[in-house]
Amino acid sequence: MLVTAYGDPAEAELSIDGEKIAVTAAAPEGHPFDTLYSGWLYREPETRALEEDSFENPGMFGVEQGAELWSVVEGSAGKSCESCHANPEEDMKGVGASYPKWDADSKRPINIELQIDKCREENMGAEPYKFDAPQQKALTAFIKHQSLGMPVKLDLSEGEMQKWWDQGKEMYYTRTGQLNLSCSNCHEDHSGNMIRADHLSQGQVNGFPTYRLKQSALVSVHNRFRGCIRDTRAEFPKAFSDDLMALETYVTWRGSGLSVETPAVRQ
Ligand code: HEC
Ligand code: HEC
Repeated sequence: MLVTAYGDPAEAELSIDGEKIAVTAAAPEGHPFDTLYSGWLYREPETRALEEDSFENPGMFGVEQGAELWSVVEGSAGKSCESCHANPEEDMKGVGASYPKWDADSKRPINIELQIDKCREENMGAEPYKFDAPQQKALTAFIKHQSLGMPVKLDLSEGEMQKWWDQGKEMYYTRTGQLNLSCSNCHEDHSGNMIRADHLSQGQVNGFPTYRLKQSALVSVHNRFRGCIRDTRAEFPKAFSDDLMALETYVTWRGSGLSVETPAVRQ
């Protein structure tokens, strides 16, 4: 079945700096789809091309900022990330492909943004970042970029991950807002169709933080979720709230096996 406007996804190949990246994956058991498609496949050729070349990808500025922040000392302990994670290219490989992860201390799943804050507060004596602070997006993009090309894989057996997955799933299928739409109404029932000027994808999160050309900035997962919820004219939950962490856990699972593409480029 032809799911994109620009050709058969089975034929499309993404290479970033010459390295091949899988943009389709067989869906895990219990998934409503048979095949998973990266959001890259739904974009126009010009947007696709930006992601293929790190020198052209404007999101790479964020990744470079993250690399610089790594060695910046902050907080009462006089430490930087580098003090404990000396080799981020090695130490952080694969990390971004496996979050959200169960956090035994707070007894909830945490994402990379919350793990960064945890290290800042507990290991550096520094303040957590405000939601969507440029440094938060840059460090998250830098960490996730170390898993470029690696398959997304969550461990749902830890702690109560399964319970959070269940909650996220319920939210995904619940209609909200004046438009009375659920995530699934758009990204499951109508993926592959046009909605106004946009080509609807499966709503995958494997490329986040993504660089959005419309906003000329890196956009975090929770910012994107809130934008989609706002578009249904509903009240949107707070970033990092239980609701959005459950949703992130479930939506990330929906992309199991797709490659990490951070920083992806989208319209
Ligand atoms: C004083 C030491 C220390 C400092 C400083 C520190 N961390 Fe950590 N970090 C740890 C420990 C300990 C863990 C948890 C155990 C582990 O995974 O190694 C951890 C875990 C992590 C993880 C999760 C790794 C995984 O495998 O899940 C990330 C991501 C991370 N830190 C990022 C950062 C960032 C970004 C900074 C700087 C803002 C930072 N850390 C500063 C000690 C530190
Ligand atoms: C009214 C339709 C609509 C609803 C409802 C909706 N979205 Fe979206 N969403 C879009 C459009 C349009 C885009 C941009 C084109 C695309 O990537 O699909 C988008 C993009 C996304 C993306 C980015 C995909 C990428 O590859 O960059 C994610 C993630 C996402 N949505 C998640 C959700 C979640 C989770 C919900 C439910 C809380 C939701 N959306 C509800 C229309 C919708």
